[in-house]
Amino acid sequence: MSHEIWSTVDEYLEKRLLGDDVVLEKCLEAASKAGLPEIQVSPTQGKQLYLLAKMIGARTILEVGTLGGYSSIWMARALPEAGRLVTLEIDPKHASVARGNFALAGQDQKIRLIEGPALDSLATLEREGFCDVDLTFIDADKQTTPQYFEFALKFSRAGSVIVVDNVIRDGRVIDQGSTDEGVLGTQRFLETVGQDRRVEVTAIQTVGNKGYDGFALALVR
Ligand code: SAH
Ligand code: DHB
Ligand code: MG
Repeated sequence: MSHEIWSTVDEYLEKRLLGDDVVLEKCLEAASKAGLPEIQVSPTQGKQLYLLAKMIGARTILEVGTLGGYSSIWMARALPEAGRLVTLEIDPKHASVARGNFALAGQDQKIRLIEGPALDSLATLEREGFCDVDLTFIDADKQTTPQYFEFALKFSRAGSVIVVDNVIRDGRVIDQGSTDEGVLGTQRFLETVGQDRRVEVTAIQTVGNKGYDGFALALVR
């Protein structure tokens, strides 16, 4: 079993279950042309986030880590007209590409992008009284995931959903000798979230055109 077959199967699923998406293709092209790293969620994962948002009838979504706005657009599409998505991005170039893509996808009215270190933006949102977030997608610097998760909980209500991306990273999550800050952050997160009485949680390993990784899924009590 190799990356090659995972990718080919992903293409098979994409073609049959997702169909052509000219707008999102253009968004990916814009991101690629601007030299952004190609680390956005895959199309099938993007649609999973979209379906999840729809399943829970999300009206307010928070995303930590925008990149070129690919996952933001998938989730924003699931929102009703009056719904809102707030997304946080530290890199001005990424933020600029994302803004262009939000306009291209006709989602700019629903999306608020806050540029800067996410911990600062989250503190600002807290001061503003930001709350009632139905779905949070945590997908930024992995060493800070535990703190992002705490903020997500503050903004949540009973029944809110929190998704954390990249918790497996080719299995590196089980490397007890790891010195990688990202891996250590994910390990700290998984070790504490499992004991956290405020949530019910699981994690799922995934393969596909993004390799071998996975996500954690938490439901706020
Ligand atoms: N969610 C995106 C991918 C995000 S990649 C998608 O699937 O389409 C991770 C992003 O987090 C990068 O753009 C990176 O610049 C951003 N990031 C890293 N550290 C950050 C921080 N401290 N605050 C905010 N964003 C950060
Ligand atoms: C990386 C970050 C991500 O959010 C992702 O989905 C894949 C890779 C990275 O930093 O390498
Ligand atoms: Mg990710």
